[in-house]
Order: sequence, then structure tokens, then C-alpha cells
Amino acid sequence: MSTVFDAEVEAQSKANYDEAAVKPYSLPDPLRTVEGREVTTPELWVKTRRPELLRLFESQVFGKTPTPAKPIVVTSEVVSEDSQALGGKAVRRDVTIRFGDGPNAPHMDLLLFLPKDASATHRAPAFLGLNFEGNHAVSNDPGVRVPTCWMRETKDGKIVDHKATEAGRGSVFDRWCVDKIVGRGYALATVCYNDIDPDYDDGFQNGVQPLFYRPGQTKPDPDQWGSIGAWAWGLSRALDYLETVPEVDGKKVAVMGHSRLGKTALWAGAQDQRFALVVSNNSGEGGAALSRRNYGEDVAHLNTSFPHWFCGNYKQYSGHEEKLPVDHHELLALIAPRPLIVSSAEEDRWADPRGEFLSAKAADPVYRLLGTDGLTLKEWPSPAEDSLSKGTLAYRYRPGKHDVLASDWDAYLNFADAHLKK
Ligand code: GCU
Repeated sequence: MSTVFDAEVEAQSKANYDEAAVKPYSLPDPLRTVEGREVTTPELWVKTRRPELLRLFESQVFGKTPTPAKPIVVTSEVVSEDSQALGGKAVRRDVTIRFGDGPNAPHMDLLLFLPKDASATHRAPAFLGLNFEGNHAVSNDPGVRVPTCWMRETKDGKIVDHKATEAGRGSVFDRWCVDKIVGRGYALATVCYNDIDPDYDDGFQNGVQPLFYRPGQTKPDPDQWGSIGAWAWGLSRALDYLETVPEVDGKKVAVMGHSRLGKTALWAGAQDQRFALVVSNNSGEGGAALSRRNYGEDVAHLNTSFPHWFCGNYKQYSGHEEKLPVDHHELLALIAPRPLIVSSAEEDRWADPRGEFLSAKAADPVYRLLGTDGLTLKEWPSPAEDSLSKGTLAYRYRPGKHDVLASDWDAYLNFADAHLKK
């Protein structure tokens, strides 16, 4: 019996990885309005072009966040606190954030580690990121709740659906490097993305979407959000909460994500300008990579393997990337002038590392128009363990696989020190 996993491996093996076979393409100009007006001033960008691009990404790519039929009452509760976490180096809080007040109101659990010396007068900058495996998997801390949400993982080449268990505690410890982050003076907040919308195609019956339906509506309209939009909304609600935490500097919250959650971090950062810094780790197609470049994954694959991630209107671009009214350098440009890292891994050809670099390069004119130094790299670099280019729009290209490594965190922390601590 073939599985979703087999289909995935087959799709990845059939993709184009030959630079010589990349067809010529031309990118939309981020500094020209749909009507053809050249954007020559920051004012024109802010008032006209940025909102126009945002609307195009909303209606054609990720879908817009609907206005709920009834305002959603969001409440939070600290379920447990440990002032001696990480061997006494951190304070850990396990928080429940509820959306709505009914008995079945969806909720997300937010796990927060604070450096021990953070206080209302010495507030810590923070990294916020969604995780795949559950909050209990991020560290070995025995006090963190095991999540109750649906989970999926790949075991021995097979997809397995299950609920998280104690066995997963600390399983992605080395992806999150909590000790390192807290040791460098940053808070870390994380939420399991399945709490916001379980990552499978159920016609949008679970997760937060139903909270937003009009009377009689049963699924999002073609221009309304899919799961990535919902996950990004959850990140903004997590930021709302962080803004209320006395020990966190709400004006210095970086949003970070890996792979599909890198796409999500970019979309959250593009929409919510309160995010002070954005990190895209191996986000690939539908994230930092250019869609018009036929290398690695394509839009058709996203739409068929993950039909719930993007909006309904995005389906029309399967096999027709050239018809997209935007490309993903413009998603990066929506983050300007805030600091942004686009990070690629050499063996992650599916995510098109060079396409991620070229995307950053094509976003550079917007960063420069807005008065920053933009991307200082001119050419796609060779991969290097300690790579991180200078500039407000930075690019990292390291050897190795699609993953988050301790050395990635070193680079992100150095970048955050340069931009958030100055
Ligand atoms: C698949 C998908 C990618 C995605 C990745 C992930 O490989 O094709 O677009 O980034 O899953 O999120 O793990």
C-alpha cells in the first residue's frame, strides 16, 4: 500500500534540481504598483504599495483572516510556574490561552521560559515560534504539560496519527536550544501549531476557523485563510499575550519558524508589524523561495499534498506560477524595514536555497528604499557553518539538511543581538 509519505518521496525525487533546466522567468517589481506607478518614496510604499501587496497575498496566496461573526473573547491563565527551571537558570510558565468562552472553546498552550534576571525593569527580548511536536518536546522539563491536541509523525516511513505522550518529552530538545537562548538573555515562547489548527485536511471543521464562520458558513471562502493563515493568527495572539508579560519586552519579539512554520513566520511577520524581527528557517516554496523559479517544490505540489495550507484561490496557480500577481520576494519585502533572516541548508534542495537567496536579493530594493542597508551580499555564497551575511536583510547558507541546528540558533541570536539589543 502506498502512503502519503511515499507520494512525498516520489514528488521530491521528480522535482527539477538542475540549474540549467531552470526556465527564464520575470518577477513582478515590488516597487511598481499594479497600475504601473513607480514607487520612489517610503510614503508611497507605506500608503499604497504595501497595502496593495498585502491584499494580493491575502486574496491569492494565504487567504485573509476573516472578521468573526462575534468578537472572540481571548483569556489566558498561568497553569503552572517554576522559578527554578533549567537548573535554576530560568523561570518557566505554562499558560493556557482560550479563544471564546464556551465549553468547547479552542485553546492553545503557550510555554514560556524567561531568563532568571528578567523583570519589569529589566525586560527580556523574546523569540516566539510554533513547534511541531508539542511543548513538552521542546525541553526535558518534567513540569510542562503533555499536549492534548492531535499529532502526526512519520515513523519507519509511515504516517502515524496519535496523541502526544510522555515518551515525547524532550524529543526536539536539540532543535530548540532553550538553555542557549535563555543563557543569551532572551525569553523563549512556543506553542504547538496543532493546537491552533490540526495540520490535516478536514474541511476546516476543527481548529480556530469555525469561530469565524458567518451563520451558515461551513468552510472558508476562496479568498479566506487556510491553515497557514490560522497559525499566523495564533502567533499574533501569542504576541498579544507576551505584551502583557511584565518580564518580556513586547517591542522586541522575534518570530521564528522552520519549514511550513517558516512560511507561517513570514506571513505572521508580514501582516503583524509588531513582530520586531523575523527568521525564516528553510521555508522554501510558499515561504521565502521564488515560486516562478522551477527548482525543487512547486505550487502544484503544495496544493495537492497540503490543500488546507493556502487559500482556495491559490489552487488556480498550480502549474501557472507565472500568473501569480505576486512572488515571494514581495512577501519578504512586506517585512521591511524590520530585520529579517532568510536561512537555507545546502542539502535542502526541495526548498530551493538559491531561490531563497534570489528572493532576498529581489526584496533588497524595498529594504533600501526604507532606509536600511538591505542585503549586503551580492552573490549566492558557498555554504559555511558560521555563515550569516551582514545587513538588515540577512541570508544564511549552511551545510547540512533541512532542520534547525544549534549553529542556526547561534546565528539567529547574534543577529538578534545586533538588531534588538542595540
Ligand atoms: C513538505 C512540504 C514543504 C514544507 C515541509 C515541512 O516537504 O513540501 O513545503 O516546508 O513539508 O513543513 O516540513
